[in-house]
Amino acid sequence: MCGISGIISSNTITKKLLNSIQNLEYRGYDSCGMAIINSHGPVIRKNIGHVADVAEKELFLSMDGYVGIAHTRWATHGGVTPANAHPHANCDGSIAVVHNGIISNYLDLKQTLIKKRHHFISETDSEVIPHLIEEYRKGGMPLESAFSAALKELEGSFAVAMVAYEEPGRIFCAKHESPLIIGLGNNENYLGSDFNAFIEYTKDAVVMDDGEYAIISNEGYAIKRIGDGSPVLKKVMQIEWDAEMSKKGGFPHYMLKEIYEQPETVNKALAISQEAIISLARGLVDSRRAFLTGVGTTFYAAQIGQYYLASEAGLSIPAISSDEFLESTPAGEGDFVLAVSQSGETYDTLRVLREAKNRKAKTAAIVNVIGSTMARLVDTTVMQGSGPEICVISTKAALAQMVILIRTAIEAGIITGKLTPADRKAKLKQLETLPGLISDFLNEHSAFVHNLAKRQAHHHNWLYLGRGKYYPIALEAALKVKEVAYLHTEGMPAGFLKHGTIALIDEKLKCLVFVPTEKEHELYKMTMSSIEEIKARGGSVVAIHSSRAFAKSPLLDDQLLLPSAPPLVMPLVALVASQLLSYFFATTLGRNVDKPRALAKSVTVA
Ligand code: G6P
Repeated sequence: MCGISGIISSNTITKKLLNSIQNLEYRGYDSCGMAIINSHGPVIRKNIGHVADVAEKELFLSMDGYVGIAHTRWATHGGVTPANAHPHANCDGSIAVVHNGIISNYLDLKQTLIKKRHHFISETDSEVIPHLIEEYRKGGMPLESAFSAALKELEGSFAVAMVAYEEPGRIFCAKHESPLIIGLGNNENYLGSDFNAFIEYTKDAVVMDDGEYAIISNEGYAIKRIGDGSPVLKKVMQIEWDAEMSKKGGFPHYMLKEIYEQPETVNKALAISQEAIISLARGLVDSRRAFLTGVGTTFYAAQIGQYYLASEAGLSIPAISSDEFLESTPAGEGDFVLAVSQSGETYDTLRVLREAKNRKAKTAAIVNVIGSTMARLVDTTVMQGSGPEICVISTKAALAQMVILIRTAIEAGIITGKLTPADRKAKLKQLETLPGLISDFLNEHSAFVHNLAKRQAHHHNWLYLGRGKYYPIALEAALKVKEVAYLHTEGMPAGFLKHGTIALIDEKLKCLVFVPTEKEHELYKMTMSSIEEIKARGGSVVAIHSSRAFAKSPLLDDQLLLPSAPPLVMPLVALVASQLLSYFFATTLGRNVDKPRALAKSVTVA
């Protein structure tokens, strides 16, 4: 979604504000802008394009002042145009506002304001906010009261920040269902959609909750409830992440850096206390019904959980994509909903959890971002500790989530009696081989993957096929290709192919098949049947597999041979291989790897 930042200081802030919004660019990057208060009022500069380009074109660094707000946009209402970029102003330009979220009643508000002679410039929902505040000011209300009165009229979701000419020493901000965090420095305070906005300047932060607004000066801050203006006291939290962790560290792209960080993030996932994992397993086993949920990549991570809970614990726990959850699955009292989310801010997943809580179900989440809404909303949170994931495409966070879910499945297996303590020991030992396997693969096979990508990237239509645990892997791998390389790639169970889609097979459609280990005899044989079916119709097969014998098969048009690994962890090794393949597809095709078109790292709207 959009990124918001703000800084107020006793020193000039322009450079820091620009840096801050650059660090949030992964939240959305179709346009951006800044408003800085100087002696004439808020000076607003904005345009379409990436922050670095707009900053140069609009001479951001030539603006000077001690207080400012900034925004990087992921369009929802209104196209990608300079007028729709934030900040937005009121009629006389004395108030500047940035907004993340969706004001669902903006059309009604806009019509009323137009009747009162307000002049609108953009097509956005956000522009109603400065005009509403202005309308209340006209009635003589002090600025703070006008700000909170305007907030009370907004329906939908918002994180809002405002600066105004008449109060140059304060930033006003508010939160409802979109994230907002205050950073505390020395004679300088910050505001951001997430920690990356100010992690280079301070590690002390205060996380705002829904229904709160805040007034920030360079000396302090006050948080109040939107409803009645009553003060709210908050705990200051320490951000554990390091600013260095958010840097590219010599890699050409964050995506590659984050793929290479995976041995470490798997180790972190393995280091999560057994107690925390058992609490998830208990929730799944002891409840009347249990469900897994997530969306996009995290839905596929949840599906991996489903398959391992079946194989390791004999449990049938469906994974349901959070965007469709409420319409298909009425979870209520006695049920348990375990959500998976990198950002902890995804609207669709939060909607499921809020509703589950309303209906008295127990909730839990595996989350990466410290202090995120989801981490604070659910009954049980397991922090995955993967560190900041900056590339819009999730890699290391997803793999860590899968490892945590496999550990949960193993603990659930102990509870259900499907596994003995000796089985658990053996399985955990196998999981512990994963970091080494991944790092060997990345160090030794990266050139093979690159060459495969160069040979195959010009094919525009792909089917990614897998059976069993390799099915969610195929889905996640296909999503990566769509997201970062913009190639049409459909993930599908290999067994499903023959029930219709096989009609598409010809020499132009490429089929990438995830082949299980030979040890998984039945699954291996069935996957081979699918390959035969493709070849019999003149199709072209690329396999990701680990069988030295199959490597010589005439059925293969191209391949990626994986190192040998225990069946328990092989799907995850195959996933890493496919992440790297997507990365090289994207670089071969000259795509914008870390900021692919149309995407946003965390989608906080419906
Ligand atoms: C967005 C991103 C996806 C991500 C999904 C879920 O759509 O573009 O890459 O998988 O949100 O995000 P979450 O933060 O909840 O894991």
